[in-house]
Order: sequence, then structure tokens, then C-alpha cells
Amino acid sequence: METAVKHNFFHDGDTALIVDRKARQYLVNLAVGETFHSHLGRLAHDQLIDHSVGGWYRTDKGHTVLAVRPTLGDFVRKMPRGPQIIYPKDLGNITNFADLFPGATVIEGGLGSGALTSALLRAVGSGGRVITYEIDETLVSRAIKNIEKFHPDHSNHAICIADIYQGIAEQEVDRVVLDVPEPWNAVETIGDALVMGGIVLSFVPTIIQVQQFVLELERDTRFQMIESIETMLRSWHVTRRSVRPDHRMVAHSGFLTTAVRCEPRAGATQPDRSGRAPEDLDSDLDLIGEDEVEEASE
Ligand SMILES: C[S@@+](CC[C@H](N)C(=O)[O-])C[C@H]1O[C@@H](n2cnc3c(N)ncnc32)[C@H](O)[C@@H]1O
Repeated sequence: METAVKHNFFHDGDTALIVDRKARQYLVNLAVGETFHSHLGRLAHDQLIDHSVGGWYRTDKGHTVLAVRPTLGDFVRKMPRGPQIIYPKDLGNITNFADLFPGATVIEGGLGSGALTSALLRAVGSGGRVITYEIDETLVSRAIKNIEKFHPDHSNHAICIADIYQGIAEQEVDRVVLDVPEPWNAVETIGDALVMGGIVLSFVPTIIQVQQFVLELERDTRFQMIESIETMLRSWHVTRRSVRPDHRMVAHSGFLTTAVRCEPRAGATQPDRSGRAPEDLDSDLDLIGEDEVEEASE
């Protein structure tokens, strides 16, 4: 135990997450000689520097606070933002369902405040690459500042000021991850850029956008295994006297749609704008019929 603690000290330039007794949290960039002020009093950064992560520290007013390292989720929740960020509950599922891996080359659509970019960079590691397409140049400096807080070395990240609907210059990329309002406009260029077996994932807030994206993926015929999901995350209040869901939750954030770049199915007819190939028109009814037959024979 003693050894484990000694291996994790705060250093000058680190970021600490200070937590008070009411669970209020503050992100503090530690610098020799600086002081953190709050209603609980003053805490010299030097009290933390060269001392243990996970330790309790006393302010000049006698209050104790906890100091830990912030997680990526802590950074994201507290980052200065303009466009709506993707929240930690979705970031985890994006890296999982897009099956990001260390060393992957990922094209991202929509830089925004850099929350998703930070998660992508972490998932691909120093051996991978993230290239972000963004149309609004004014967002870049704030996003880079946000990304730098979690990834001081982000030399494997490039920003391309361009409309991703108009084309992706890179070829044979492993993944495309989108947080743009009209992902269906990028389907053709994504199909051209992705390696065979590569995965596209799109995050959108409304189900109408999901439908339009899915229909366009089907119309393209190069995408298979198309799936759409939504995550509901509910935290629980657990004490000796009471165990129940918390009163508040973020009920809705957005939907994730994934698809795999494949060869078009032999004999597939390009569907019309309704998203249905002529041979698929009765497929929903056929499936209902098949289920009924299976149940009847059990
Ligand atoms: C919701 S924000 C992205 C937020 C980001 N994922 C985050 O977590 O901070 C959408 C971004 O997509 C950008 N955008 C919209 N249309 C685009 C396009 N056609 N090509 C590239 N970027 C686009 C917007 O300027 C905006 O920055």
C-alpha cells in the first residue's frame, strides 16, 4: 500500500481534482507558489506538489479536501465549450461500438470543443492518428486548449478545416466517427475512405437524423451490419438506510449508429431514396411470419 502511494505524487504542472466534503469539484492546474482559493479557505499548491494523489489536505480555515487526478470524464464535464459536447456516457460507448484500437487511423467529423477528439486520441494511443474535419475555424484554438489539458502531446492529431460532406482526402482509414448534423451527406465519401471492414459511427441527437443516415447507408450498398442504439445511464444513491435510483438523470443525449464497410451484396439492387431495395419491400412482414412459424413448432 505504502509503495503504491509513493508512486503516484502530484507534480508541478499536473492537474488535480479537488473534492470538498459536499462533493463539489474543482479542477486546479498545479504551479509552485500558487494558491487555490474557495469558500473553504486557501490551499497552497505546494501542499500537493510532491505529495500523494488521493490524499486529504487541509485549508487555512481547517477544512479537509480530497485531491485526486481528474479522469477524462471529469475534464470533459468541466471543459469550456461552445458547441454541444459529447458526454462521458456516450464517449465510452463510441470508443467501444466503433471498436477503436491502439494504432488505428480515425477520421473525425466535427471538432466542436474537442471532447470527442480527446476520447479518440486516448483510444488510438500514441501509435494511432486522428484527423478531424471542421468547417468552423473559430472553434480551433479553444478545442486545442481543451485537448492539450488531457493530451499535452497531441502531435498525432491533425485538424483539417474543410466540409466533410465534400470529401475525405485520406484513404484506407480504419474508422470514421461523426458528430455532424447531416451525416447522410458524408456517406459516399466515407465509403471511399474506409478500409474494407472499417467501421463508421455517427452520433446524432434526434431519431429523424438516425433514420436519414441509415437509409442513406443502405442506399449506398457498401455498408452492412447497420445498427442504431441509445444509452440510458442511471446512477444510484446507496447508503445504509436507503438504496434507490438518484432523483436526477440525463434522460437523453443522442443515438449511435454503426455500420461496417463491405463489398456490396451480390445481386443487391441500389435502393431508392426510401431506403428500400425492391426485393426488401416485404422483409418486415416476412420476419414476423418466420417468428410465428418458429414459435408454433416449439
Ligand atoms: C456538436 S459539434 C461537435 C462536438 C464535439 N464532438 C465535441 O464533443 O466537442 C458539431 C461540430 O461539427 C461541425 N460541423 C458541422 N458541419 C460540418 C461539416 N460539414 N464538416 C465538418 N464539420 C462540420 C460544427 O462546426 C461543430 O463544430
